[in-house]
Amino acid sequence: MRIIRTVDYKDMSRKAANVISAQVILKPKSVLGLATGTTPIGTYKQLAAWCAKGDVDFSQVSTYNLDEYRGLSHEDVQSYHYFMRTNFFDHINIDLANTHVPDGSNPDADAACREYDRMVAEAGYPDLQLLGIGRNGHIGFNEPGPYFSKGTHMVNLTESTIKANSRLFDSEDQVPRQAYTMGVQTIMYARSILVVANGEEKADAVYRMCYGPVDPQCPASILQLHTNCTVIADEAALSKCPRA
Ligand code: PGA
Repeated sequence: MRIIRTVDYKDMSRKAANVISAQVILKPKSVLGLATGTTPIGTYKQLAAWCAKGDVDFSQVSTYNLDEYRGLSHEDVQSYHYFMRTNFFDHINIDLANTHVPDGSNPDADAACREYDRMVAEAGYPDLQLLGIGRNGHIGFNEPGPYFSKGTHMVNLTESTIKANSRLFDSEDQVPRQAYTMGVQTIMYARSILVVANGEEKADAVYRMCYGPVDPQCPASILQLHTNCTVIADEAALSKCPRA
């Protein structure tokens, strides 16, 4: 695991965007695994700015997002599909047909998850998987539990995740209680992984991810076993980690 310490959120976002744009420059047909959440927004903004200048070209890139709320259609303004369009896809030269998010509108969880696994496998798994990390160490919607999950599956969101995500809804009641998420095993199939984290509230999770025991009670801790994982985090998020 490579750990890159940045001075602040802006620096984190710029460095993460640099890694992603290098990936796309080196391999124009890259498969990118993408994440929603507040953390990667600055990274997406920076990439969009470089794309507008002609410095990075997404025309041949395909993307697979980690997760989606169950019960929300692609058009729902709270869906992750909508988030990706408004925060990233609408601002870059990607072909929307090459962007993929689990189908939250399909109530048949088994069918929706199997179909997503099939698509990700057919694409050959991501060349680079971007990840945020939850305060409880979750990646995607893989919450702490007794084992590391495998393929795409339905999850019941934990109270802490519902609370954390409610800031993006009018009220906590409106936060969907279930989601479809890529599993930890699928995440580990990516050829490289880039985790972004900022802020004091992530310091415990970042410490456990980088230095704690590899334990499904902190799903991100398995990333210690990945052969090409880079963590880019600001001083606050790394405040509990030893300085290398
Ligand atoms: P955040 O979410 O970027 O909004 O903090 C990260 C996550 O929960 O994976």
